[in-house]
Amino acid sequence: MSRPPVDDWHTDFDHLDPRWIENPYPIWETLRAKCPIAHTERYRGVYFPSTYEDVRAVAYDTEHFSSRRIIVRETPPPRIPAPPITSDPPEHRPAKNILLPAFTPDAIKRHEPHARAICQKLIDRFAGKGGCDVAVDYAQEIPARIIAHMLGLPDDEGDRFRQWIHEILELGITEPAALMKAMGESTKYFQAEVEKRRAQPTDDLISYLTHATIDGAPLSEDHLLGSIRLILIAGIDTTWSAIGACFWHLAQHREDRKRLAEDPGLIPTAVEEFLRAFSPVTMAREVIKETTINGCPFKPGEMVLLSFPAANRDPAVFPDAERVLIDRKENRHAAFGLGIHRCIGSNLARMEITVALQEWLRRIPEFRLDPSAKVTWSEGTVRGPRRLPVQF
Ligand code: HEM
Repeated sequence: MSRPPVDDWHTDFDHLDPRWIENPYPIWETLRAKCPIAHTERYRGVYFPSTYEDVRAVAYDTEHFSSRRIIVRETPPPRIPAPPITSDPPEHRPAKNILLPAFTPDAIKRHEPHARAICQKLIDRFAGKGGCDVAVDYAQEIPARIIAHMLGLPDDEGDRFRQWIHEILELGITEPAALMKAMGESTKYFQAEVEKRRAQPTDDLISYLTHATIDGAPLSEDHLLGSIRLILIAGIDTTWSAIGACFWHLAQHREDRKRLAEDPGLIPTAVEEFLRAFSPVTMAREVIKETTINGCPFKPGEMVLLSFPAANRDPAVFPDAERVLIDRKENRHAAFGLGIHRCIGSNLARMEITVALQEWLRRIPEFRLDPSAKVTWSEGTVRGPRRLPVQF
């Protein structure tokens, strides 16, 4: 669908503009310097804070900013609960607490050998071919297989899951029919999985949630299906994008590639820097009560794009914010969010990204972007490379 082009980013920004999708960083830099909280009339009114401080202020303020709508869309759809990410206090805390045990550092450690085996098998498929599409053949497969395994779903249904995610997070911004189609299909699919586990409990996350209780009562059907859908979506697109962005950088920076191949101990530090510099996730909030932040009034009913990626490029908090320094020491980035909704999957994501880099660099230390092919980026809530052809 075509939208009028943007001619003033301060008063008329559009996060689906091709320039924003391709390379948003210079736009955010200008906004930060001239108009730290931008506004657009598009999408029924949206604010865009671009400094760390202002993003933080919105993220921590659950009194004025609600998570009941977390994606900026042209036409607001019927409310679709996905607890805890769409919950506000006081419902948020118990909805989050029931998910936490599956994502502790110890719980995630147990998945590491599986992640390593997945990476090795994927690399075996293309190592002898002289090139591959890292986004398609590698990055997208790792989180889809891991999360399917954790939920207790077949690990070869990645295409189906990614299609839903594409329809919910990308197409669904402007095409309500695509969103509703994916919602309908995924609901039916998960209902069947839940029914199987009601009849016979299994040792997986869907079974655990099916039998979980809050204050002694089982989760409502909407809560249960919403949380399962959230874990699938949050677990795949985000990490796929983060892994892809690491490779996008390394394919273009020989020194960094060489340094990590020779010193794999530095990989976890580099992963934090990639997460900071190329943070994939931009959330949204609905303004529910009038308030003012940094001199800017926020009107109820409008939305806020909560750009953790922009916060992470703020030079007031990160010296040399525009440079990727793979040995950056101080790095309290906000890629996993700030405040009560901070990501529960950060241990899992960090493990997957680290293992993906370690296994690849061990086998393929030298690679570069395929000069004849184009890199493409996803749009909307989660940003990452969707086509990333490399040669080795
Ligand atoms: C690099 C990968 C990831 C990034 C950058 C990321 C980022 C984020 C961010 C920014 C939030 C805050 C949302 C908000 O403020 O509204 C969040 C929340 C969440 N993430 Fe992640 N995430 C990643 C991976 C994962 C994984 C692997 C899972 C596991 C299934 C996951 C599950 C969740 C859940 C359930 C929430 C909601 C928490 C709440 O509402 O309290 N994420 N994530």
